[in-house]
Amino acid sequence: MDFALLPAVNAALVSADTLIIPMTTSGLTNTGTALDTASHGQLSATIKAANFEAKVGQTLLVYQLNNVSCPVIMVVGAGDSKELTGRSLQKLCASACKALNNKSQTIYSFLSELSVTDRNNSQVISDIVRATLEASYRFEQFKSKKTDATAKTMTLVVGQELANNSGSHALQWGEALATGLNFARDLGNLPPNVCHPSYLADQAAALAKGQRKLSVEVLGEKDMEKLGMGAFLAVSKGSEQEGKLIVMNYTGGKKGDKPVVLVGKGITFDTGGISIKPAAAMDEMKFDMCGAASVFGVMKGILAAKLPLNVVCVVAAAENMPSGKATRPSDIVTTMSGQTVEILNTDAEGRLVLCDALTYVKKYDPAIVIDIATLTGACVVALGKVVSGLFSPSDSLANDLLQAGQQSNDRVWRMPVLDDYQELLDSPFADMGNIGGPNGGAITAACFLARFTKDYTWAHLDIAGTAWLSGAQKGATGRPVPLLLEYLNSRVAR
Ligand code: BES
Ligand code: MN
Ligand code: ZN
Repeated sequence: MDFALLPAVNAALVSADTLIIPMTTSGLTNTGTALDTASHGQLSATIKAANFEAKVGQTLLVYQLNNVSCPVIMVVGAGDSKELTGRSLQKLCASACKALNNKSQTIYSFLSELSVTDRNNSQVISDIVRATLEASYRFEQFKSKKTDATAKTMTLVVGQELANNSGSHALQWGEALATGLNFARDLGNLPPNVCHPSYLADQAAALAKGQRKLSVEVLGEKDMEKLGMGAFLAVSKGSEQEGKLIVMNYTGGKKGDKPVVLVGKGITFDTGGISIKPAAAMDEMKFDMCGAASVFGVMKGILAAKLPLNVVCVVAAAENMPSGKATRPSDIVTTMSGQTVEILNTDAEGRLVLCDALTYVKKYDPAIVIDIATLTGACVVALGKVVSGLFSPSDSLANDLLQAGQQSNDRVWRMPVLDDYQELLDSPFADMGNIGGPNGGAITAACFLARFTKDYTWAHLDIAGTAWLSGAQKGATGRPVPLLLEYLNSRVAR
């Protein structure tokens, strides 16, 4: 879908398939009022007859108003205007999008007439664009019959002031967020027989094609053996698919500026290995590469927005399978850091691939390192599917990420990484075990990673609860791409 900005129009004369206008519980906004006047009260009479309450996300289609050229008017509820937040705006944009029928190819939207309590006018434009593209997402590659295409163009009528530069910048930012997010969803939704480590490596090469500022390097298992990545290899060795460490190096910033490094967990399927998982819902373990997918999505968004930053995205891609070559519970391996790990449970594999990737990235002399991983079921128990778990010994990095989460409506909640938990990882035979027992599982997983990230400022995002939805709406969410892009963008402004 393409977006355009217009300063102002006479709504009654617009020739388009559908006009989208908002309504709060206190009534219609300017354009709605103008259409009502043009139609001699027909619009308000219809709204009244339909008993439309203007609840957030409620929609009403009104056809063939007198003296109005456009045949379909969609009224979208925005609730109490005093309580309208960025989150409700996102929700109502999604409802509007879902209520459009496929005959609507050209749309004029007047939703930016809403004033949103916690968003400024240009943020409202970004929000509308992002939410619309997010809601029009379909994953139909493997369906013989595709649903009809969604609207082609949406013209946002935004007023004189925003139709200039700041508005179009906001529009492009909304598009960059959605492009990154939807790319992450595509990768997450792919079946694991297609999306394996080599497929992800190919995706990185495809992203870099024709991009002067992006270079890609892929390490295979031989390379990792040379580097002493015993923990990563302990996971990948059980699979027929070769494990890959994929590095995407983007140099959009000043030469010599230390990069932000993002490390994504890319387990393209997690059977649990020899500590095999139960059969129920095991299909959802194709989503165990959503950390990696988010890192790809962020890179896609960076390229779309041409962010002037240095960013290194690293993907630790492997498949966790049981086989004659697989790691056994009680095997001891030596990590790239030199520390030894007794692998007590082969299902705690994410931390094993990540710890070596986190040691490897020291060579980039990072300003900040953030890893993103569907790391623990315990995090889902603790936080549910609303917020991602945020773990960081650094208050300032944690606060920056909390703020970016608010800004992007892709929220995180801080959890502790206190030393007091470290003893739970003690092993009688090696420097540490790879599990910390039944209590505080998300925290002990973070504490494990903390042992490998002492040389730089680090945060860990556990997205086990937020990366995908189950049940009827099963599918990857693309989180936390908006959070990370918003965080990176905040570093540009500095
Ligand atoms: N990928 C899983 C975590 C997970 C489980 C995410 C369910 C979302 C839903 C991870 O590799 C795993 O299996 N973790 C174990 C760790 C345990 C063995 C210490 C877990 O959470 O059960
Ligand atoms: Mn696992
Ligand atoms: Zn896993």
